Amino acid sequence: MLEVSNLTKEYTTPRGPLTILSGITFSLSRGDAISIMGPSGSGKSTLLYILGTLESPTSGSVTLDGQNPFQLDEKELAIFRNKAIGFVFQEHCLLPQCSVLENVLIPTLVAGSDDQPIQRARSLLEQVGLLDRLDHRPAELSGGERQRVALARALIRNPLLLLCDEPTGNLDHQSAEMVASLLVELHQRQQTILIVVTHNPALAGRFPIRFQLVAGQIPPHNRVS
Ligand SMILES: Nc1ncnc2c1ncn2[C@@H]1O[C@H](COP(=O)(O)OP(=O)(O)O)[C@@H](O)[C@H]1O
Ligand SMILES: [Mg+2]
Repeated sequence: MLEVSNLTKEYTTPRGPLTILSGITFSLSRGDAISIMGPSGSGKSTLLYILGTLESPTSGSVTLDGQNPFQLDEKELAIFRNKAIGFVFQEHCLLPQCSVLENVLIPTLVAGSDDQPIQRARSLLEQVGLLDRLDHRPAELSGGERQRVALARALIRNPLLLLCDEPTGNLDHQSAEMVASLLVELHQRQQTILIVVTHNPALAGRFPIRFQLVAGQIPPHNRVS
């Protein structure tokens, strides 16, 4: 379970404090999927980075299965993030010199990782339709294929939380549809908590819970069942 309580984020600027997020509160259970929309600059990425423990909040709390990651030391936090959280960004962020298979395996290169990572990587790449591209470099793939590799990489450690920041933002319509379908399908299969920031109403519309970030807050959300 993900519990976010009274989350606030301020940046200090030469012209004084700048409040980006103020009093964000919600909770999600395993298997939930939500979209977050909002104008550019409204703090969507900031919220996602805090939930992903890449940024810390100014105040408020985040707990994932009862654990507050911001109470961990740096090393413990890195281990926690590696195990519990998967990211897909607008830019695929694949390593250009590594093959598709190697890119997907990168999160497993830490101590205490799961058994049989290669088998799992191959299975995920099969699920995103790239089993015949294992040895290709990212430059040899289309934008949509790269995002499908990024999705497999995000899921390799079976994370509880899957965070996507405009995952289809750089893709043509057809590739975006395919990535969106795979995202939903893999989320359902793995029962993650999926949070997708998007400008694309068609992508947002795929999720039963939709949040709109307005003036640093999320007004009571609509649950469409
Ligand atoms: N390190 C920072 N210092 C000051 N302001 C920042 C910093 N990072 C982001 N911001 C500001 O926070 C606001 C929200 O940014 P962001 O979360 O990227 O918005 P979105 O993803 O919704 O477009 C923007 O106005 C941005 O300029
Ligand atoms: Mg953003």
